[in-house]
Amino acid sequence: MMKGDLPNLYLVGFMGVGKSSVGRRVAERLKLAFIDSDQAIEEKERKSVSEIFAEQGEGAFRVMEREFVKSGHPDKNCVVACGGGLVLLPGILDMLRVKGIIICLYASEKTILNRTSGNPYRPLLNVENPQQRIRELLKERNPVYTNAGPCIVTDGRGIANVAEHVERIFLREVEDFQSVPKSEGGHS
Ligand code: S3P
Repeated sequence: MMKGDLPNLYLVGFMGVGKSSVGRRVAERLKLAFIDSDQAIEEKERKSVSEIFAEQGEGAFRVMEREFVKSGHPDKNCVVACGGGLVLLPGILDMLRVKGIIICLYASEKTILNRTSGNPYRPLLNVENPQQRIRELLKERNPVYTNAGPCIVTDGRGIANVAEHVERIFLREVEDFQSVPKSEGGHS
């Protein structure tokens, strides 16, 4: 990395925790590019995530997510909001850690239900009982999210407030990241 460059910041966590809104704000403040993995895939495929799920299936979407991580985005100076399922792909966390810093946003089942209800663009929650689906997925995924990196609870907090917190943690982690040789994965 050249002087003045920053490692990428990857925001991970469940649907509705605020990865995109918070990520956009942090990117603006730190003058980094903002990338949303879902949007990058939609632009590349010229299809919405819902269309990809309906026409090609979830498996095909997961392959596209892996491609996005491997070669679909710059490896520095970006804030990346990662689709909720992306970090569950085997080996993905290690790939992300080489390029940057991972921060997890967390919200309770109730908050997620509130924030996602009425939004038809999330195929996994387009089911008869979204609350039950959220509960099941959280049970399965929370261990992965919470072990991915520092975690910030977003319940009852606004975007600006969470963004400031993310920025603080990111800048702290950047120092560690830059002091660890690349051969060790760039992560302490
Ligand atoms: C998914 C989350 C979505 C999107 C897709 C699947 C998931 O992204 O990638 O609908 O498996 O959790 P957001 O977390 O940005 O909503």
